[in-house]
Amino acid sequence: MKLMARGAQLQHHECHQHLSLKALHLRKYYKWILWLALFIYLFLTTTSYSFLFHPLDLKPLLPANTNPPALIESRKSSSAALPKIYVYELPSRYNKDWLSNSRCGSHLFASEVVIHEALLGYPGRAVDPNEADFFFVPVYVSCNFSTPNGFPSLHHARPLLSSAVDFVSSHLPFWNRSHGRDHVFVASHDYGACFHAMEDVAIADGIPEFMKRSIILQTFGVRPPHPCQQAEHVLIPPYVPPDIEDEWPAPEKATRDIFVFFRGKMEVHPKNVSGRFYSKRVRTEIWRRYSGNPRFRLQRKRSGDYRAEMARSVFCLCPLGWAPWSPRLVEAVALGCVPVIVADGIRLPFPEALRWPEISLAVAEADVGRLEATLDHVAATNLSAIQQNLWDPARRRALFFRRRMAEGDATWHVLTELQGMRLRRRSWATAKL
Ligand SMILES: *[C@@H]1O[C@H](CO)[C@@H](O)[C@H](O)[C@H]1NC(C)=O
Ligand SMILES: *[C@@H]1O[C@H](CO)[C@@H](O)[C@H](O)[C@H]1NC(C)=O
Ligand SMILES: *[C@@H]1O[C@H](CO)[C@@H](O)[C@H](O)[C@H]1NC(C)=O
Ligand SMILES: *[C@@H]1O[C@H](CO)[C@@H](O)[C@H](O)[C@H]1NC(C)=O
Repeated sequence: MKLMARGAQLQHHECHQHLSLKALHLRKYYKWILWLALFIYLFLTTTSYSFLFHPLDLKPLLPANTNPPALIESRKSSSAALPKIYVYELPSRYNKDWLSNSRCGSHLFASEVVIHEALLGYPGRAVDPNEADFFFVPVYVSCNFSTPNGFPSLHHARPLLSSAVDFVSSHLPFWNRSHGRDHVFVASHDYGACFHAMEDVAIADGIPEFMKRSIILQTFGVRPPHPCQQAEHVLIPPYVPPDIEDEWPAPEKATRDIFVFFRGKMEVHPKNVSGRFYSKRVRTEIWRRYSGNPRFRLQRKRSGDYRAEMARSVFCLCPLGWAPWSPRLVEAVALGCVPVIVADGIRLPFPEALRWPEISLAVAEADVGRLEATLDHVAATNLSAIQQNLWDPARRRALFFRRRMAEGDATWHVLTELQGMRLRRRSWATAKL
């Protein structure tokens, strides 16, 4: 404050002075003070965010629109309180070999890769498995992309996982000790731990028997019961490369000239199998009702540019597809467009940290016909409150997995949830004694 007042004073002086040597000196001096202040500011902010669990108190350095209560809460549970994780070293055919395909580390399901990498660099990683609270089994199952359509084939997922479990249970005593209860897997595709992209097959197959006692980090979440989440699990966001944050201006600076936006598959032909069953017809209905409405920008064709359109939109529709969840949700939050979730019964990642009802809207599948009236009502009442919550940088940070883990990112929130699970298990065990 003092610095700034002095700077202002100097500037004021300058206006009234002729170009004397003295003034030149002052101007130079003033510039250096500004540079120094900027340097100190940048140094403090970047270090406190990028070094994990830095002992500095973050609070005075936070930008004004972050949410102090949430951060204070997370600080309470920081370093010492996060669990110790042992990361198994498996032969490369279970994981690293798949990285020869460059899509493996960056596509929608790549959290299985990025969480592994983040945990390898996690300061709380247990080098000695005897000290571990949890054991991470790093198997990449989503990278066998089929050549005709580019979708990952999951046929090999069960045998690959089963063989990885044989490997860890025969090499070390920890799997047998707990029957896998403290072992953690990632299941990042459509129906998570059921390892299939079609719901009926996923339900029929269920979770592989050998994984049913373990902990699954999965993208798939609906109100229970559902056969694909009948194992302890933590809901995680789908993988979206974190650099999209750097590609766009801060959400509060964007000009939002599109009222409602959606780009994606919306089959309409009644004979088209996917048109009838896909998205439980919700997307077909959205297309039928609103494709002629100029306030709705609806596009059926994929385009690499759709993030630019999201950054220009007030509301971004996130209707279910084959599965209820979609990467649009992460992208909408990252780009500051209010997500309008149309997927009955969906459960979303990190509910305590994100507090989804404060940053999004949920519209029932059956109410999709009243979408325009609903959004008009919100625009006239609480839109700016929702946007203020949504544009809080801590919310965006929580949705991104980073190869180098940082406090408050998605891997960090996974660890926080595992810690909660650990404490619940412990108090449950004590209660039983
Ligand atoms: C990859 O998927 C194809 C097609 O489903 C399958 O034939 C092949 O065995 C899979 N590859 C591996 C290494 O599992
Ligand atoms: C764990 O149990 C399996 C099956 O009972 C057994 O084959 C394996 O040797 C055991 N592992 C260890 C490390 O003792
Ligand atoms: C059905 O949907 C597919 C996939 O989008 C499309 O290629 C095909 O042309 C559609 N068929 C009809 C009859 O609309
Ligand atoms: C905004 O208003 C809508 C519709 O009235 C309501 O459903 C929603 O919970 C409100 N959201 C917030 C954050 O106030």
